[in-house]
Amino acid sequence: MIDQDTINKITETARIEEVVGDFVTLKKRGTSLIGNCPFHNEKTPSFHVSVAKGIYKCFGCGKGGDSVHFIMDHEKYSYPEALKFLANKYNIEVEETVQSPQNIEAQNARESLYIVSEFAANYFANELWTGEDGRAIGLSYFKERGFREDILKKFQLGYSPDSWDALIQSAVGAGHKEEYLEKTGLAIRNDKGRLYDRFRGRVLFPIHNFTGRIIGFGGRTLKTDKNVPKYVNSPESDIYHKSNVLYGLFHAKKAIRDADNCYLVEGYADVLAVHQAGIENVVASSGTSLTTEQIRLIGRFSENVTILYDGDAAGIKASLRGLDMILEEGLNVKVVLFPDGHDPDSYMHHVGSGEFKKYIEDNRKDFILYKASILLKEAGTDPIKRAGIIRDIVESIAKIPDDIKASVFIRECSGLLQVEERILLSELNKIRAAKFKKASGGNQPQQSSFQPSSYQQNPYQQDGPPDNLFENPGESAGPVEQVEPTDHNLIQEREIVRLLLAFGHELVTWDKIDNMYIGSFIIQNLADVSFEDEICKLIINTYRDEIENGHLPVASQFIKNEDRRIVDLAITLSTSPYSLSENWENRHNIYVRDESINLKKTIFGGLYHLKKGKIGKMLTDITKELASETDPVNQEILMQRHIMIKGVERDISKYLGTVILK
Ligand code: CTP
Ligand code: MN
Repeated sequence: MIDQDTINKITETARIEEVVGDFVTLKKRGTSLIGNCPFHNEKTPSFHVSVAKGIYKCFGCGKGGDSVHFIMDHEKYSYPEALKFLANKYNIEVEETVQSPQNIEAQNARESLYIVSEFAANYFANELWTGEDGRAIGLSYFKERGFREDILKKFQLGYSPDSWDALIQSAVGAGHKEEYLEKTGLAIRNDKGRLYDRFRGRVLFPIHNFTGRIIGFGGRTLKTDKNVPKYVNSPESDIYHKSNVLYGLFHAKKAIRDADNCYLVEGYADVLAVHQAGIENVVASSGTSLTTEQIRLIGRFSENVTILYDGDAAGIKASLRGLDMILEEGLNVKVVLFPDGHDPDSYMHHVGSGEFKKYIEDNRKDFILYKASILLKEAGTDPIKRAGIIRDIVESIAKIPDDIKASVFIRECSGLLQVEERILLSELNKIRAAKFKKASGGNQPQQSSFQPSSYQQNPYQQDGPPDNLFENPGESAGPVEQVEPTDHNLIQEREIVRLLLAFGHELVTWDKIDNMYIGSFIIQNLADVSFEDEICKLIINTYRDEIENGHLPVASQFIKNEDRRIVDLAITLSTSPYSLSENWENRHNIYVRDESINLKKTIFGGLYHLKKGKIGKMLTDITKELASETDPVNQEILMQRHIMIKGVERDISKYLGTVILK
C-alpha cells in the first residue's frame, strides 16, 4: 500500500498537462488544451485537458479523469502501478505502508514480462561491452559499421552469446521464471520440451514502447550465410504488438514534436545512423509494412512525415501505394531519395553527418508531386499511360481528408501534368462520389465538391461546372454564397450557429456556470427557442443530439457534411462577417481575438438578441390573435400572456441596453 501522503504528493506534483503531454500533442484552445484522443481514433480533436482542474475529458469516447487515471487508462496500469509510474517521473520517493518484497515475482504477469525483457536487455548489453565474444564479435561489428559508442549505449544495443541457453541460465539464476522467458519469446521450447535461447549469436536491438520500457528485440545475424535469416524478431506477446510499435519512437518523440516532423526509415540500422548524424526525430516501422496504427502513432506527435528511401526504383514504385495510407490519415508526406542505391545508413556513413543533414534538407520533395513526376517520367509521351497516371495521382489526392490541402495539390498537379485544373477536379469529384456511394449506398457526396478557384474570378466559366462534376440536383453548385440575409430573425439564428461553431469548444466559468463548454451552454439556453431557418435548425438539432450523446461536435464536421446546404452555411459563417479579402486571415484573427476577450458578452448578446427577436414575434402574433378573438375568456388569457412576455422582453432589453453595447 502506498501511503496517503505519498499519493497526495504525487497527485499534486503530476500536472495533468505534463502527464498527458507525454502522450498527446496538446494545443491551446481558449482556456483549455485540446488534442487528439489517445483512447479512440479521431482526426479532429475532442480530447480536452483542463489545467485549472487537473483533469482530462474526451467528448468523443467519454474517457476522463485526473493524471493518475490517465496513466491507468493509457498504460493499462493498476492504481498503484500508475502512482509509481508518476512517482518515478517526478522523482518522488514512494513510501509504502507495507513494503512489498523486492522479489522478481511481480504483482502481475504483464509486469513480469516487462521485467524479464529489461533483464535480458541488460544481460545482452553487458555481454556486448564486457563479454569476450561480445567485444570481439558484437562490438567490433558495430564499430566496423561506423557506429559510435554513445549511440550504441543510447539504444541499449547488445550481444547474445552463441550458446543454446546462456540467457536462460543467467535469467533463471537471477530468479526469473522460464514461463516469462517463453512468453516474451526470449526463449523457445522445442518439441522435446527443451528450452533454448532465441537470439543466440546475434546482435540485439531492444525495442522500446514509447514510455521507454523494453517490449521486444530485433536480433541481427553476423553471418553472411544466405540461409540464415538476417533478422530474428521477438514474437507477439502480451506486451509486444508489432503493428502498433515504431522502432525508435521513445528516443524520437520529443524531437518529433519539436521539429514538427517525423523521419521514417526502414531499418533499425537506419534509425541509429540518422541519430548519429544528429537527427533525432526518426523512427522505423521495422520489417512490417507500415500499419494504420503506426501512422496514427506518428500523428500524435506531428502531422508531417518525411520518408527516407533507399534509391532503388523498383522499391519506390512498390511503396507508392502504401504511402497513400499516410495521406488518408491526414498527414503530410514528403520523401527524400538517396542516390546510387544508398539507404540512410549507408549514405550517412558514406558522406558523413554534416553532408547527410544537408542532403536531407535540400532533397525533400512532396510525395504527391514526387509520385506524379516519377510516373510521368515512366509514361513518356504515351497518351494512354498518361491518362492512367492522372487518375492514379488524383486517387492519391482524393485520400487527403483536408479539402483545402487537396485543392492546393490539384492546382500544383495541374501545372505538373499539364492538365486543366477543372479536369482534375472533375476526376477528383468522381472518385469521391464513387467512394461515398460505395460507403453509404446513397448518392450524395460526403465531402463537398470542389470548384476550381477560377470560378470565382473568371466570368467565362460562370455558366456552370463541367458536365461530369459531381452535382446535387436542385442545389446550388456554384461557389459558396455570401448573401447577407436582411431578415433579422435569420441574422440572429445564424449568429447563434456561428457562435456555436466558433466557440463551442471553449470551456468557460461564468458566475454560476462552472467549467462548461460554450457549446453545451448555448444549447441549454436554446431549449425554449424554435428555429425557423431550416439549415440553422438542422445544425442546432445535430449539435444538440450529439451533446446528448456525450459528444461535443466540431465546426469541421459541418464544413464537411454530406448536406451541401449545411456545408455552405458553415463556411459562410466561419468566414463572416468580413468578406474574403487579401488580408482576410489577419482581420479574421483579430476579429476572433476581440470576440474571445469579450466572450461572455458575445455569447449572451447572441442569445438575448435571438430571444428578443423571437419574443417580438410572439408579441406581434398575440396582438393579431387578440384583434380577431371574440371570446372574452380567451381574450383575457391572451392579454395575460402578452403582459408576461412583455415583462421578459423588458428584462432582456434592459440587459442588452446596459450590458451589451451592440
Ligand atoms: N527485417 C526483418 N527480417 C528480415 C529482414 C529485415 O525483420 N529478415 C526488418 C528489420 O526490422 C530491419 C528492416 O526490416 O531493420 C529493414 O531491413 P534491412 O534494410 O535489411 O535492415 P537494416 O536494419 O538496414 O540492417 P542492415 O543495414 O544491418 O543490413
Ligand atoms: Mn541497412
